[in-house]
Amino acid sequence: MNILLLGSGGREHAIAYKIAQSSKLSQLYVAPGNAGTLGCGINVNLNVEDFEAIKTFVLENNVEMVVVGPEAPLVAGVVDFFKNDDSLKNIAIIGPSKQGAELEGSKDYAKAFMQRYGIPTARYNTFTKETIEEGKNFLRSLNPPYVLKADGLAAGKGVLILDSLEEAEKELAEMLENAKFGNASAKVLIEEYLKGIELSVFVLTDGEHYKILPEAKDYKRIGEGDTGLNTGGMGSVSPVPFADKAFMQKVEERIVVPTVEGLAKEKIDYKGFIFIGLMNVNGDPYVIEYNVRMGDPETESVFPRIQSDVVELFSHTFNGTLDKVTLEINPQVAVCVMMVAKGYPESYPKGDVIKGIDSVCDSLVFHAGTKMNAENQVVANGGRVICVTSFADNLQDALAKSYSSVEKIEWENKYYRRDIGKDLL
Ligand code: AMP
Ligand code: GLY
Repeated sequence: MNILLLGSGGREHAIAYKIAQSSKLSQLYVAPGNAGTLGCGINVNLNVEDFEAIKTFVLENNVEMVVVGPEAPLVAGVVDFFKNDDSLKNIAIIGPSKQGAELEGSKDYAKAFMQRYGIPTARYNTFTKETIEEGKNFLRSLNPPYVLKADGLAAGKGVLILDSLEEAEKELAEMLENAKFGNASAKVLIEEYLKGIELSVFVLTDGEHYKILPEAKDYKRIGEGDTGLNTGGMGSVSPVPFADKAFMQKVEERIVVPTVEGLAKEKIDYKGFIFIGLMNVNGDPYVIEYNVRMGDPETESVFPRIQSDVVELFSHTFNGTLDKVTLEINPQVAVCVMMVAKGYPESYPKGDVIKGIDSVCDSLVFHAGTKMNAENQVVANGGRVICVTSFADNLQDALAKSYSSVEKIEWENKYYRRDIGKDLL
């Protein structure tokens, strides 16, 4: 079958790499893709939020399956657009409906959902411009640090963690009264701070049945030792040693089952990924957030571990028969190290020519922000540029392979963290 994958990052390259291995695939299209996805299929110059253009492309090219990588088209309702169109409604689109996507699109909606189903999460309250004084009172009732969250999508920047009450009150006003994150901060959640270690858990669901994919740990800060600004993610490790059988059983019973049952009970059309960002607090899992897509760079370590045919998994997801398929996982350790442009996550140069990719033989190279220039050279075209994933029987060996591959790839403004996975050794 012909498949269209929406998105352009390292996540999409890793998904494309697995789709390209499927015996069910005729032609893969990636829109818009990057220099790396060219190795898995054909890049198509489409805007992922231009649904009419997607429709035209799908119909003209006999596309039978659409896999949605990023959250924006899901939150904008791409799945509903397909469902409500007679010529598109039988195409297997992988992702939740607009209402399901609210689990990521609105943190207030997500917290209320968790409360309805008794899913463990931090205590919170939501405030608006009209209730700012109550918000300040709520802050005073908490202990530092203070967690403020813009309700809506804010490009990963909408969460503030502040040490002083004074700062927290000031930022609350900035968000509510001065629209610090635009409309996304018209509502602000104030949350109890959870102390623990974070874990990313991924679920593929058809709305009734589910498969738990391998979990991963992400490294969010730009600097070594988890210092400096937050990024989209500087590396990932899968599996995660502390996510042992007992812990994952708690995650399944307390979080995954009630989440999927809650979606079904509310008749929310959800055939796609649920990414549960959680905190391990003294051995108990608490949900920090839901995302309605795979994580990036978690996908770059999680997807290569999936041995099952992912297109078959996606077909069962769309058909509501995920219980009829088994999920085969490579038990080895996968480690991904993200190479970024110097200056990221603030301003950084684009256009540096990247050399040495072909000399990597021990690792998978996933492109994140790259493109081909007019001379057919791969150039940096984003903050996160290239991610290198390696497998081994243990974490130490997988890390050694990834770091040796990272040394072979060169461009002028390259930067990466040297301590990915060290905390787990
Ligand atoms: P989010 O955008 O919701 O993923 O939040 C960004 C980051 O803020 C998370 O990855 C956590 O590191 C941190 N965070 C969010 N909520 C809390 C919380 N209640 N307690 C501690 N850390 C949090
Ligand atoms: N790596 C975190 C995310 O994709 O949101």
